Amino acid sequence: MARMKFITVDIMMLLSLGLICSIGLVDCQLPSKVCYEPSGEGLIMKVIADAPILKGCTVYVGSIFFANYRMHTQAHVNASIFPDLREITGSLVMGLVAGKYPTSLGFMFPNLRVIRGNQFFYGFTLLLYFDQQLLDMSLPSLTKIERGKVRIQNNKIMCYYNTIKWSSVMGSSYAPDRIITKTLPTNCPTCPAKCNGYCWNAQKCQISMLID
Ligand SMILES: *[C@@H]1O[C@H](CO)[C@@H](O)[C@H](O)[C@H]1NC(C)=O
Repeated sequence: MARMKFITVDIMMLLSLGLICSIGLVDCQLPSKVCYEPSGEGLIMKVIADAPILKGCTVYVGSIFFANYRMHTQAHVNASIFPDLREITGSLVMGLVAGKYPTSLGFMFPNLRVIRGNQFFYGFTLLLYFDQQLLDMSLPSLTKIERGKVRIQNNKIMCYYNTIKWSSVMGSSYAPDRIITKTLPTNCPTCPAKCNGYCWNAQKCQISMLID
């Protein structure tokens, strides 16, 4: 009888938790899959065949390096979407050769919120190094880089790097010289009006700047 009562209580708790999740009273996280980098030297993604390693990871303990990674077909693009990834504890380096695709980085990590910078790549926590075809470097959910520096370079058509309020993303670790940009265009469009001046591209506002 006592056992029966426990089970009933559990079910009631689950039901009420489900209810407060569904009406948005609390941030109910999806189940986590924590992936650990085996070598301590960074997960190196060179070709599409490497992409499954990262699939389904919600937290990546380590650093991720896309090294001359190419997407030539829509199937390649589809294989390079990591919607589950919310956190990287080390650094993220994107050396992307766009090939035919994509024009935006935004689709790859739509839910990446935090890059902790517990490990740097030559002092950088976020390094974006592209060829000529990328129009923006959108990481639409990114709200926090805890340590280190950001460097964005080598893309003559990429805009919206100067419409990010990095001090909001980097908090107390922010200083102007921690954001390094090189060989980027100067005549870039401004953000959509709804974005309070801060956006990742023509569609995506910088989330943290919408919440005052
Ligand atoms: C890519 O994903 C989209 C959306 O899920 C789908 O409609 C399309 O068929 C996929 N294309 C390929 C080549 O896998």
